[in-house]
Amino acid sequence: MQPRDLNAEIKQLQKEIRILARKLERSETDRARLEITNRNKESLLKRVIGELQTSQVILEKKGADLEQAFNELSLMQTKLVEVETMAALGSLVAGVAHEISTPVGTSITLASTLMDETQLLLAGLKSGQLRRSLLNNYIEIAQESASLILSNLNRAGALVQSFKQVAVDQSSLEKRTFRVKPYLEEVMISLSPQFKQTLHTIAVKGDDAIEIDSYPGALAQIATNLVTNSLLHAYLPNEQGILWFEVIQQNEYILIQYSDDGMGIPENILSKVFEPFFTTAREKGGTGLGLHIAYNLVTQKLQGRMDLESEVGKGTQFNIRLPQSIHV
Ligand SMILES: Nc1ncnc2c1ncn2[C@@H]1O[C@H](COP(=O)(O)OP(=O)(O)OP(=O)(O)O)[C@@H](O)[C@H]1O
Ligand SMILES: [Mg+2]
Repeated sequence: MQPRDLNAEIKQLQKEIRILARKLERSETDRARLEITNRNKESLLKRVIGELQTSQVILEKKGADLEQAFNELSLMQTKLVEVETMAALGSLVAGVAHEISTPVGTSITLASTLMDETQLLLAGLKSGQLRRSLLNNYIEIAQESASLILSNLNRAGALVQSFKQVAVDQSSLEKRTFRVKPYLEEVMISLSPQFKQTLHTIAVKGDDAIEIDSYPGALAQIATNLVTNSLLHAYLPNEQGILWFEVIQQNEYILIQYSDDGMGIPENILSKVFEPFFTTAREKGGTGLGLHIAYNLVTQKLQGRMDLESEVGKGTQFNIRLPQSIHV
């Protein structure tokens, strides 16, 4: 090889070395940069993990809080059902007491008149001046008062009877076999004070003999809530409504339909009426619990199903399907 060629070769090599050195330098810087980025990423990751751990703790705490809130809510719901039952019982007592005071008061007045007349008769007898007209008059008054006293006391007795039945059922909520239609009729008698100031009529239709082995108290509560709703929501003052129950046997189920021919429920709130606290009558004292309680009693206590159909301007119908006997 010529010295000239060698020289050129050396130069070329030196050039390549320089290029390689620069490349090496550059990759050094890249590596350093990469290291920094990696370190940054690592600390970011650590932070994220730390934050995740904190979030997890918070979430766990929130979960526990939620569980507690849920338990408290369930407890409150049970309490509300009890309160509603007691409140219904309270107004029932007040209503029946009011209702009974009229026949009892009338009976007292009649009995005291009868006593006065008897005294007069006795006085006449003692003085030996008893005239035939006085005796005839006495007999007439005695007969009339006695028959009025009897009918008034019968009415009071019937009220006490129906109240006793419903009141016991509402407080003890015991299971027994009973005939559905006569029982609903008794519940309606206990509600008669509420109908007094209205023009509505209420009827219970169906076969008298249909029996069910279930909780009459719960059924009384459901029927009361439905009827109260019709009175409160379905009609304008002085409107004349027709409210009726129909009891139908369907194999081992009892279908109880309750209907009113009132103003109906608008479609946009139809799906909400069973929700707790949903009411369109808050200013009238509605709490929005009536239908929720009725629904819970049907589906849980009575192991049945409940739905409703309603058309604005036509009325509302609730269908309650109950098993003929409940398994406990
Ligand atoms: N028969 C009915 N006709 C028209 N609307 C009804 C009828 N029954 C229920 N509603 C509507 O459903 C809503 C919910 O009824 P729910 O019985 O749950 O509560 P409420 O009657 O308003 O209050 P509460 O029963 O607690 O006193 C009522 O506010 C009313 O708008
Ligand atoms: Mg109600």
